Amino acid sequence: MKGLILAAGKGSRLYPITHIIPKPLLPIANRMTLEYAFEKLREIGISEIGVVVGENEDAMKAALGTGEHFGVSLTYIRQPEPKGLAHAVSFAKDFVAGDPFVLYLGDAMYSKGFADLKLKFIESGCANLNLVKAVDDPSRFGVANVEGDRIVKLVEKPKNPESNLAMAGLYFFGPEIWEVFPRLPPSPRGEYEITDAIQMMIDEGKNVLAGVYTGDWFDTGTLDSFLETSFYLVDGGSRIAASAVVEGKVGEPVVVGEAAHVECESIEDSVVLPSAVVKVKGKIRHSILAGPIESDGDIIGQILHGDWKG
Ligand code: G1P
Repeated sequence: MKGLILAAGKGSRLYPITHIIPKPLLPIANRMTLEYAFEKLREIGISEIGVVVGENEDAMKAALGTGEHFGVSLTYIRQPEPKGLAHAVSFAKDFVAGDPFVLYLGDAMYSKGFADLKLKFIESGCANLNLVKAVDDPSRFGVANVEGDRIVKLVEKPKNPESNLAMAGLYFFGPEIWEVFPRLPPSPRGEYEITDAIQMMIDEGKNVLAGVYTGDWFDTGTLDSFLETSFYLVDGGSRIAASAVVEGKVGEPVVVGEAAHVECESIEDSVVLPSAVVKVKGKIRHSILAGPIESDGDIIGQILHGDWKG
């Protein structure tokens, strides 16, 4: 089985930091986001991994190389323009070459592994098995209606969800998926949705299953979720890299990366990325900071990168 990680997104909800560092390379609790994905795939015996990249291609290749350093073998696949998840996957057909594969959304993070789900996918002989998780706000996600283990209906971001089971960013596919892509119409938001491709397989009588995930699932795509994920990984405490210097009162939770230098009155509920130089004559709260930053006042609820003065 091969792995396919989608990592072409622009990360626009984390601008301006993702102007400089592609989202899949951002350090979360001082480890690159994709390292967590590589680890989870390796755990289930997958080391041959395709990474779908976009405009971030050069930066991704420079940071990840052949993947050898991370115990995986990487093939880069270029998505020429961002037109949805199914569109991204469609460029990986030659890489996958008819094998079963697991699709992993590059900004997803999981607490627990997938060995049981991989086994269920293989033993059932189904066309597709999708990780689902009960959530409070399903309308933000693809939503699955299930009967027993089978998914009978899927809707992308429904206004009135019929179930609370969200598609949780991990999908096992057999070769049946390649038959539907050429016939897939764009969605109302103008993208080729992976949920619509799966719905087509359901409509055509293929066996599509749900695997309920019992671990914790995060995405790293917004200020709030990036901070939440980081602090989950450090158990709500603080992690200050040995080579970092923080002058000021350190509350919890806080993550400060390698070689960062922070001067402030106090810092809490924030992440400072590696090598950042931050001088703030006030408090830092609920923020992600990188690059040279100087401020005469507080920094609260901000994502800042570059020569920023406030
Ligand atoms: C995508 C999928 C959606 C899924 C979600 C999980 O949405 O389209 O079905 O539930 O990822 O994070 P996006 O985050 O691209 O809007």
